[in-house]
This record gives sequence, structure tokens and C-alpha cells, in this order.
Amino acid sequence: MQKIGVLGGMMDPIHRGHIRAALAALDAGLDRVLLAPCLTPAHRPQPLANPADRLEMCRLAAAADPRLEASDVELRDSTCYAVDTVRLLIERYPGARITWILGADKLQSLPHWYQAETLFSLCDFYVCPRPGYESAIDVPGLRLRVMDIAPLEASSGDVVDQLRALSDAPELLPREVARYIALHGLYQPDFIPVLRQYGMADKRLRHTLGVRDTAVELAAIHGVSMQAAALAAMLHDLAKPLPLARMRALAAEYGLDLSQEITDDGNLLHGPLAAAIAERELGVRDEGVLSAIACHTTGKKGMTDLDKVLFIADAIEPGRADYPSLDEMRRLAKTDLTAAVLLSMRRTKEYVLARQLHFCSVTEQAMQELLEQKEEKA
Ligand SMILES: [Fe+2]
Ligand SMILES: [Fe+2]
Repeated sequence: MQKIGVLGGMMDPIHRGHIRAALAALDAGLDRVLLAPCLTPAHRPQPLANPADRLEMCRLAAAADPRLEASDVELRDSTCYAVDTVRLLIERYPGARITWILGADKLQSLPHWYQAETLFSLCDFYVCPRPGYESAIDVPGLRLRVMDIAPLEASSGDVVDQLRALSDAPELLPREVARYIALHGLYQPDFIPVLRQYGMADKRLRHTLGVRDTAVELAAIHGVSMQAAALAAMLHDLAKPLPLARMRALAAEYGLDLSQEITDDGNLLHGPLAAAIAERELGVRDEGVLSAIACHTTGKKGMTDLDKVLFIADAIEPGRADYPSLDEMRRLAKTDLTAAVLLSMRRTKEYVLARQLHFCSVTEQAMQELLEQKEEKA
């Protein structure tokens, strides 16, 4: 007889605490555990991520063990009763024995669940200990087992706090889940209306999202925060749609101290201006993110890996039409960020000089420094 466990909850997002409980339930004798995010009862605060995203994150987390599986069984309606879920599972898996996995914090309310007696007759219960909560309860007909795992103090709220501080929360989140969150802008404000407000058209929005995808991939490869890379990418071209006169007026208003070669050219000015807007209008406080946004147009001396990730992601995102060395840059970006940035700057320099335009001295200095770094390494 197959023994199937159900681990329910908001999973907003799923974290290592959930996964640990699921693995412990497997160790305790189950053959399979379903990670089953639920819709929200009316009396609870609404989840931050939508059901489809929460389910997908469970699917990614389930990769931790082939006996784990994401399930939509609890995504039926917001009054989703456990007893109905168990009945549904008995239908879906004929002959299986169902175990409901719950935290000790839920235990005291268990006798008051909808049709509790029927529920107790249909399934077994495994309890995960929680600090400050009794793990046992004396209820007739209830088959309950306490799992032997140390309580994990982490909560989805802690995860969200860390994500908002632009950490990938490696102790709490599986990497693939953190990556999914970065790629989809979950647990961050929705910046698209803001981009629209600054006049961003569809084409540049597609570019922005392409830069986000690429920046997150490169961040993952090069050990940079994926959340920081995603945020920097989302906002990097915020000021680009503004007319040059408006850019200059705003730069003056914000008191930006910029050289004339930058204030003369919207292609350069929109970087530092977007950083100023992100900081002062959108409340972005992370110095690393602000730096990456500010220098994505020119580079600078002392570029960080995040600066480089955004700089090169901007140049190579999948929507870019082919141009000289694009393939080479895409290849290099995965293995050698500095070389990729340097190549991109060189190509820009050739392009600019071929048209007898001015090549930015800030970029020239950045190139010199990156070249020295490469030579030192070699
Ligand atoms: Fe840009
Ligand atoms: Fe861009």
C-alpha cells in the first residue's frame, strides 16, 4: 500500500523548513510527499505571490528528492477543507493511505477542523515540533505521530525579509527557488507601472525584462545576489525614455555632479539619472544596486561584479539584434565577466570613433583599469 503525505500551507514561499519536514516524513515511512500550497481562507492575510507561482516554487523545491512532488490539490477554492482534500486524494490514488503533515502550532485547533471526526477516520497525522507548542494532543480516534526533527525557527516571513534586503536567502531557500523569485520579480514591488510612468514603451520594456533574465543568469554563475541583479536590471533604463532636456533638468534638480560629456549625451546620462530616481523616488537603498544602475552606461573605475553583470547583461540580452562580437561576448560573459565587459567597451569605442564621435573618458579609464586587472591575472 502506497503511503502518501500531504504538506499544505501558504508556501509563500516554500522554504527549507517545509522541505525538511517533508523529508522527515519520508524518513518516518511515507513513500511520497505532496507539497501542496493552498488558497487563502478569507480570514487570513492574502499571500504575496499568486497560486501559480507558489505551486511552481514547490515544483522547483521538489527537485530535492524524487519522492517529493508539487500538487495543486489544495488550490481548489479558498474554503478548501482538509477532509475534502483527503477524499480527493483517495480518489486520485486508489488504495493509498494518506497522511496529513502539520506543524505543532496547528495542533490545538485540529479537533475543530471541518468534519474532524471523518477526517481522523480517513487519514493519519504527522506533527512537526515547533518551539513553544505542545506536540501531543489527546483526541479519540486521532492517529498521530510526532516526527523526530529539530524545530526550524525560520518562517516564510523571514525569507521575504531577506529577499527584500536583496539576499538570495541561501540558508532558507533552495537556489532554484531563489532564482525563480528573481526571474519573476516576486516579493518586490511591481515596477512596471513605474517604468510606464516614465514613458517606457513596449520594446524597451521587453529589453528590460531580457536584461533581467540575463543578469539573473550571470549573477547565479558569478556568485552575485540574483535579487540585486534583478532589481538593478528592472530599473536600469528607467530614465532612458525621457527627452535629454528633461534628463538634464532632473539631474540638476537632484544635484548630480556630472561632467559635461555625460550631461551632453542622453545615452550616458540616463544611467546616473536612473540611479538617482531609484534612490530618491523609489526608495532603493542598496548601494550596490544604485552603483550598477548608475554606471551601466559608462562603466567606471572599481567596477564590482554586480556592476559588470548589469553592464554586460544590457549588451547581450536575448532581444539584442546581432552586432560584431555579440556571440563572443555572450560566451565570455559566462566564464570571464571582466573580459566580456572589456570586449563590449572596445566594440563601443570602435563604433563611436568610426563615426567621429566623442568616446567617454570615464569608459576609457574603466577600460584601462580592467585591462590592468586582466594582465595581473595573466
Ligand atoms: Fe541603458
Ligand atoms: Fe538597457
